[in-house]
Amino acid sequence: SLTPVILAGGSGSRLWPLSRQHYPKQFLTLGGLPGGQAPDAAPRSLLQQTLARLAGLRLAPALVVGSEPHRFLLAEQLREAGVGDATLLLEPEGRNTAPAIACAALHACRDGSDPLLLVLPADHLIRDDQAFRSSVAAAASLAASGELVTFGVVPEYAETGYGYVQRGAALGESGYRLSRFVEKPDRATAEVYLASGDYLWNSGMFVFRASRYLDELATRQPAMLAACRAALDAAREDLDFLRLDAEAFRTSPADSIDYAVMEHASRAAVVPLDAGWSDIGGFQALWEASAKDERGNAVHGDVQLHDCRGLLVHAEQRLVSALGVEDLVIVVTQDAVLVADRRRSQEVKTLVEGLLAAG
Ligand code: GDD
Ligand code: MG
Repeated sequence: SLTPVILAGGSGSRLWPLSRQHYPKQFLTLGGLPGGQAPDAAPRSLLQQTLARLAGLRLAPALVVGSEPHRFLLAEQLREAGVGDATLLLEPEGRNTAPAIACAALHACRDGSDPLLLVLPADHLIRDDQAFRSSVAAAASLAASGELVTFGVVPEYAETGYGYVQRGAALGESGYRLSRFVEKPDRATAEVYLASGDYLWNSGMFVFRASRYLDELATRQPAMLAACRAALDAAREDLDFLRLDAEAFRTSPADSIDYAVMEHASRAAVVPLDAGWSDIGGFQALWEASAKDERGNAVHGDVQLHDCRGLLVHAEQRLVSALGVEDLVIVVTQDAVLVADRRRSQEVKTLVEGLLAAG
């Protein structure tokens, strides 16, 4: 069967001030998103939605890889989601996704087994669970025969923050040979890929046999593999957590699975994913995914609008009122207010980096 590996260690700075360093995107309950409520109407975070999505798949207990400072948040959200059998692997500090997945793969193999891993970001939105499950089934059968499998989404525009995969010959019943993987191309290259029709967006989810991934690391990233092995060997069990050894883990090079493995992989495949996927990579994406009124306003909290269009408004603890404006993001939290042009919301990341640098 499949072992889910949930990547929950990211910091999601594009949704500031909704997401904060100590409370990033995967833990947020974003009002107005499809799937944002459990059947009993309790709000669900993106992490909890990710876990709920797996419930229908009859998988092995999940491995959740997250970061030390978030440990209580992680444990609490897992408990709320009714996931009692997951293993929580804690990184002392993030070294990006390649080492996180390496530690999970090593852990999954510790009893001599070699399961298929379903690697999932904790902070993505998927509207169509049924379509997601059938893509996962197709990916699992390709991975069982030795492929590194990605899930490809039909691109909508020349996004430079994504990986692109080139589709080759048909493989299996609903997959393709992956003939090329390019992580975060520049704008001109992304335009060419988009126009060609040959390329899909890499959704950031993967399926492969644990040993297949570890073998790739052994060839391309031996130092990373050695550091992760040492960090897991010396890991400490503590309450509900498995804490990687800090000293060993810190010696690992930091890199993403995309750059470290996928760009160089020899036997890789792509399975199309048409499931209403979004990585909620910024306020524009959040607005697109949210329920809206007839004027295209997505509001959350105590909000009064007069003659406004295309707004995304989030109000905590205060009444927010707007008059005669269009296409803005307005976020009011306990200690910060953001007003931005909705279409420029990718630049929020730069803004936040500036704020952090200024202390
Ligand atoms: N445990 C752990 N540790 N998780 C991490 C770490 C880490 O150090 N760094 C990131 N993550 C988690 C994030 O929370 C997110 O869920 C996932 O891993 C992917 O990391 P991102 O930092 O969001 O990657 P990205 O958005 O730049 O790019 C990836 O996703 C795109 C689609 O959303 C790549 O796979 C791209 O190719 C892809 O198109
Ligand atoms: Mg991302």
